[in-house]
Amino acid sequence: MGFENAFFESASGTAEQLPKSDLPEIVFSGRSNVGKSSLINKILNRKSLARVSEKPGKTGTVNFYGLGFCRLVDLPGYGYAKVSRGEKLRWGELAEGYFSSGRNIRHVFQIVDIRHEPTQGDLQMIDFLKAKGISFSVVATKSDKLKKSERELRLSGLQNRFPKIPITVFSAETGEGADQIRERIRLSI
Ligand code: GTP
Ligand code: MG
Repeated sequence: MGFENAFFESASGTAEQLPKSDLPEIVFSGRSNVGKSSLINKILNRKSLARVSEKPGKTGTVNFYGLGFCRLVDLPGYGYAKVSRGEKLRWGELAEGYFSSGRNIRHVFQIVDIRHEPTQGDLQMIDFLKAKGISFSVVATKSDKLKKSERELRLSGLQNRFPKIPITVFSAETGEGADQIRERIRLSI
């Protein structure tokens, strides 16, 4: 099963535009600018299949990447203060619509920044996934930005906060954790 042949399939700006749910889906969720698109590119071994930006709020649509046997789903990032009220509302409806339309969601990677405490939005998302009974794990990204000792400290902090939830330390720069994420995708399909 290869991750190399992924292709961009579609982008949906509203829940009504979501493509037919005919394949298992693996979802990437997290606040704006946390590194969702960078993570997708890394695990697919592609430079810029998913668009990455210095500016937060880049991915304003639900983007689908086809792998043949499943789809990877890049959700728009939440929690970006400078996005207009209308856009926030649209994102809320889009995410809500995505999760409540009976899709074949096999796993959600909830991405957090290893350097910071989880945000209100991160915690809401985790509560939501638990309440819905959706299989999920946490990815602590941007590990390259911390020294090893700090990293370990942040990881044990996260593990204490989220006992029993698998946590993967990841970096789109160094590729740390990419194999574990690919393996979890394989096991989820
Ligand atoms: P939105 O689409 O706005 O929700 O953002 P996103 O979550 O898709 O983030 P994106 O992948 O666009 O990355 C945001 C910024 O963080 C970019 O400048 C990336 O280069 C940077 N970045 C992402 N992952 C890493 C990482 O693991 N390490 C470092 N050092 N920078 C990263
Ligand atoms: Mg993005």
